[in-house]
Amino acid sequence: MKKIFICSIALALGGMLVLFGNARADDYSAGQTLFKKNCQFCHNLKGDDNYPSAYYRQFRPKDFSDPDSWKGLDGQKIEQVIKKGKGVMPAINLKPEDTKAIIDYMTHVLKN
Ligand code: HEC
Repeated sequence: MKKIFICSIALALGGMLVLFGNARADDYSAGQTLFKKNCQFCHNLKGDDNYPSAYYRQFRPKDFSDPDSWKGLDGQKIEQVIKKGKGVMPAINLKPEDTKAIIDYMTHVLKN
């Protein structure tokens, strides 16, 4: 009887982990899609089939999957660059929640 009890607790915990894990992945997948659509054709990531695109070769925008690209960069700075542009990068007009989703994806998935 005790074994069954322990088993069902383990199953319940496992199920919660799976659910929680999926919820987290979903949080960032929206940001990933937005990043692909709005940023990735310039900011190629390693392993991207288009890498290095002609644009990348000309302007060398940062590859955010490279840890070196994160020196001195945080969510706030990224937001500024998206809103105002920087150098040859134009300002990008996004809804505030889309900007946030992109930054969450970048700081949680790309940065690590
Ligand atoms: C048209 C091409 C292009 C697009 C689209 C683009 N970028 Fe850029 N980005 C650049 C270039 C080029 C630079 C380098 C600018 C410079 O320093 O002169 C840059 C710089 C940056 C920087 C500054 C890095 C640093 O440390 O100073 C950030 C952050 C950034 N981009 C984020 C984004 C995000 C997020 C998106 C999508 C919302 C995006 N970029 C879309 C071309 C682009």
